[in-house]
Amino acid sequence: METQQNICPWWLGYTMINPLRKYQHNPDKILAPFVKPGMTVLDYGCAMGYFSLHMARMVGNEGIVHCVDIQDKMLNNLERRAHKKGYSNIVNSMLVGKNYEPQKLKGQIDFALLFAVVHEVPDQQKLFNEVYTMLKPGGKVLFAEPPGHVKTSEFEISVAKALNAGLTISNKKPAIKKLAVILTKQA
Ligand SMILES: C[S@@+](CC[C@H](N)C(=O)[O-])C[C@H]1O[C@@H](n2cnc3c(N)ncnc32)[C@H](O)[C@@H]1O
Repeated sequence: METQQNICPWWLGYTMINPLRKYQHNPDKILAPFVKPGMTVLDYGCAMGYFSLHMARMVGNEGIVHCVDIQDKMLNNLERRAHKKGYSNIVNSMLVGKNYEPQKLKGQIDFALLFAVVHEVPDQQKLFNEVYTMLKPGGKVLFAEPPGHVKTSEFEISVAKALNAGLTISNKKPAIKKLAVILTKQA
């Protein structure tokens, strides 16, 4: 596991799966424009899978949700929750430093979610390069950061890294008002 200073503690994962969160982050509004049945999608920094399980419902049995995190406690809880919902065959969890191998997903991802994670990642350029590699041509990314933790200037620096990786800013507007952007890998 890489050394990381500002990682979200695993026990905060429980607050992120609180069902009341839907009033702030409505998964249908946020994801439905991008996530369709049969898609292969990525939830990077998935924690206990607040968005992952909604993505599993949206892609259905013909799709797959690759869920990546750096904390196994987050992924263990995600797997339990996926099992309870009958999504074990759709949700594939991958731990950074163990079985997360972005090269194996080269050109496979239709849609990637980077929600409230990039500011925790020490090498953001490497992450955006990996995401670019994993995306299909025409694939999209929803990149969003929490305004309480991340300044606009910091978000802009991260977006510049995404552009440096080869992504472009889409005209599509995300259903998140602040510090959010849709990025595309050109077809
Ligand atoms: C603030 S939480 C957001 C979780 C989730 N995206 C959500 O919105 O519910 C950030 C998550 O990113 C994970 N994380 C931090 N650094 C990471 C890294 N380098 N690679 C993968 N996951 C990471 C943390 O373990 C944590 O689960």
